[in-house]
Amino acid sequence: MPSTPTARFSADTTWLTAILLAMGAWLAACSDQSIVPTSTEADETEGFKLDQELQLQLSLMGVDGRIEERFTEMLGRSIDPELAEIGRLLFFDPILSITKDNSCSGCHAPNASFNDAKSISVGVDNNGVVGPNRSGPFNLRRAPTIINAAFYPNLMWDGRFAAESLDGFDNSMGFRMPEPEGNSLSHLDHLLMAQAFTPISDRMEMAGFEFEGDNDAIRAEIARRVDGIAEYRKRFEESFTELADGATLQYEHIARAIAEFEFTMIRADAPLDQYARGDTAAMSPAEKRGGLLFFRDPAACFECHITLGYANQMFSDFAPRAIGVPQIAPTETNAVFDGPGRDEDFGLARTTGDPGDRYKFRSTPLRNVAYQPSFMHNGAFSCLDNSIRHHLEMQQSLATYTGEHLEFGLRAKRGPDQPMQSMAHHLSQIPRGRLTVDMFSDLLEFVAVSLSDPEAHPDALRHLVPATVPSGLPVHEFEFGATVNECR
Ligand code: HEC
Ligand code: HEC
Repeated sequence: MPSTPTARFSADTTWLTAILLAMGAWLAACSDQSIVPTSTEADETEGFKLDQELQLQLSLMGVDGRIEERFTEMLGRSIDPELAEIGRLLFFDPILSITKDNSCSGCHAPNASFNDAKSISVGVDNNGVVGPNRSGPFNLRRAPTIINAAFYPNLMWDGRFAAESLDGFDNSMGFRMPEPEGNSLSHLDHLLMAQAFTPISDRMEMAGFEFEGDNDAIRAEIARRVDGIAEYRKRFEESFTELADGATLQYEHIARAIAEFEFTMIRADAPLDQYARGDTAAMSPAEKRGGLLFFRDPAACFECHITLGYANQMFSDFAPRAIGVPQIAPTETNAVFDGPGRDEDFGLARTTGDPGDRYKFRSTPLRNVAYQPSFMHNGAFSCLDNSIRHHLEMQQSLATYTGEHLEFGLRAKRGPDQPMQSMAHHLSQIPRGRLTVDMFSDLLEFVAVSLSDPEAHPDALRHLVPATVPSGLPVHEFEFGATVNECR
């Protein structure tokens, strides 16, 4: 895990900074030439200056609004639509869970922009509903979205699945995963293919607690089942020659299909991208002012939510830090929580075993964040504004946090603040800049609107839900319309 990955880019940015600052000075000189402006002219001059500053800032931060169109080039081939279609069916098919009651879509819900519809995932032993009325034992954390995950250099809340090259498309240095997988899946072409091996063998997510056998035995069982379903077999034979020649389906075929579907889930054409490509009308003046706050003091969100280099304009440095998010512990859970009261999540320390890594979570990528029903690794906040306020003054946020908005099963037990406060990263120990009410509202507008690609809204994803799946098992009941967070 690189501790300061941004350092890699400092050399490149120095000369760029010099050029851009010179350009900025030149542009500023031009705008000074207007003599005593009338009020509309003054507005225009102000608007012009705002655009000039933001455009400069975006070029410094490597935001060119073209990451989405670079996807195919990064993948090195075009997406295979037939394989992606198999992946879509599998993503929604409970046949992938040993218990036959959960699918990827049970937690990565289309009605929540492929985020979790719950603050903390409900895995096996659920009631078949995906939305606020889903019930069953809670797991440990919330499922983050799979949208744009293809661009991430590492995956999971603590980044424990990582491409050593800092590029999910590049396996040349291997993929690092915790044991038992280790680096054994490094031959796969993309980090998402390796990731797709793991949810089905997770006991609380999809495998259940009864099946006897290790992860490979679970995968073999799932592959055997899928191989036995005529429609899948036929579709897979069309995509893989070895299968057409009669070979037995392997779990790897399934993983490749799921990843291919995830490759089609790129939604990175937000107003900010249109703006960065030159359409200055794509963002409102408030969003533009908010953008400057994001990238500069006093808010300076970009210190962790970066866009440059390996961040692929995803607004995260993918490095783990402790920022003191309130601890939520479900009353009914099939996960083992940490700490003396079994009511804490130790974050990265669960993977590394190092007490110094306690409470560390990956800076979350922020694209399409406004479409989430809840925020942070445990959905501690159900309004975007509160999740941002928490960053500004962690101590105060913790002191005033009640959790009363949480559903009953998540409200009763709350882990202690103190151990986590003392471990918090220095950037969140000190209150971040005093933002006026107007400044805060501009910042919120930027995060909520400028980073949202309308194609990632649940309404635009609804058509992806299949009416039936090849296994014939029931597709979950998705509560559309009930999960979009409206409270900013
Ligand atoms: C029971 C709920 C559940 C199910 C079912 C589930 N996931 Fe997840 N998924 C999660 C949670 C929770 C995380 C984060 C876990 C962590 O960080 O500890 C996650 C993380 C991920 C990530 C990483 C995203 C990121 O931002 O790093 C991907 C990709 C993913 N899951 C894909 C899948 C696929 C594909 C399936 C089906 C084969 C699946 N998941 C099934 C809950 C689920
Ligand atoms: C010190 C590094 C750091 C800084 C600076 C920072 N963040 Fe974060 N941010 C994080 C981490 C770490 C998380 C994930 C925490 C967790 O889930 O436990 C996060 C999560 C978030 C989330 C929730 C995302 C989700 O999917 O749940 C939002 C929204 C957010 N940050 C916005 C901001 C804004 C706006 C700013 C500037 C005011 C900012 N952040 C500054 C580290 C930082």
